[in-house]
Amino acid sequence: MAAEIVVIEGDGIGKEVVPAAVEVLEAFDSDFEFVEADAGDATKAATGEALPAETFEAAASADATLFGAAGETAADVILPLREAVESFVNVRPATAYPGVDALRPETDVVFLRENTEGVYSGHEDRLSDDLSTLTRVVTSSASRELAEFACEFVADGRGPNGDADEGFTVVHKANVMRETDGRFREEVLSVADEHDVDADEELMDAFATKLPLDPGQYGVVVCPNLAGDVLSDLAAGLVGGLGLLPSANIGHDNALFEPVHGTAPDIAGEGIANPTAAVLSAALLLEYLGHVEEGQRVRDAVTGVLSDGPRTGDLGGEATTDEVTAAIVDRL
Ligand code: NAI
Ligand code: MG
Repeated sequence: MAAEIVVIEGDGIGKEVVPAAVEVLEAFDSDFEFVEADAGDATKAATGEALPAETFEAAASADATLFGAAGETAADVILPLREAVESFVNVRPATAYPGVDALRPETDVVFLRENTEGVYSGHEDRLSDDLSTLTRVVTSSASRELAEFACEFVADGRGPNGDADEGFTVVHKANVMRETDGRFREEVLSVADEHDVDADEELMDAFATKLPLDPGQYGVVVCPNLAGDVLSDLAAGLVGGLGLLPSANIGHDNALFEPVHGTAPDIAGEGIANPTAAVLSAALLLEYLGHVEEGQRVRDAVTGVLSDGPRTGDLGGEATTDEVTAAIVDRL
């Protein structure tokens, strides 16, 4: 049966890099059915809603969704879309590619970030003129589900080393947040133990120092929601920029793939956006749908183009989005 892929370009350079990613998916004769849907600032201006119910439902019932970016309405689009696919883990690889000027060229880390709770669970209150509070939510079930995913991820050899015995590092602050991060830490380590997966732990502040100093010591990193958000952005800084980083929001039988970057209003409409992050998001989509070899071929093609060119302006080149996309497709 054809896999149904919902395609949401969104605003700004989403309209330029998502078609590039679709072109790459179309280069394989896999049986994909693409369904276009709208969301973002322009959709809100036209319909009054940043994420129309049809788009939410399309994403919820598809096999996978590929999303570009939304402008000012980003939070109104992306948070409900993650809910539409019931995503419990955000997968964010940060890899320094040859030929790209990276602060830390040895960086090759995959963050597996809890995607539903922690301080992002929405329990914020203004209690008085002086006082606002936030309830941090950590459940054993979500922590274990993330850990189960992490164990499977390393066992499948999907970590940077590609070894089934690679293990992972769990990052937390259980020495201070004893109850919430204490629970997170305990559950993650206990699931790792049940699966015979080697798990190290690191306090998140220490990790924030050690990662930029010596990223080579880390591979797969398992984090609570906020820590994963911040630390994966830190890793993005080490590998040379936003135009390169893909991400996946994985649910139980659905998933959403998106570049980490936004709409890049400063270059939107010029046809010069770097399609790499969107194309690598398509590689994650291929792997998610079971096309593991094809996903790797996309990554190899991207690696070749990043190292030999052509390159877009953000990487010091002069090529257009279309030229880089054509070069990637050529190598496939
Ligand atoms: P941004 O990621 O759009 O841009 C930051 C800088 O990186 C800009 O100089 C931009 O030109 C450059 N850049 C980003 N992606 C690039 C690419 N593929 N090729 C070449 N250069 C690239 O972040 P910014 O400027 O903070 O936000 C712009 C808009 O995007 C805002 O309205 C924000 O709300 C939205 N946004 C949406 C996100 C989403 O939909 N997931 C995520 C982040 C921001
Ligand atoms: Mg972020």
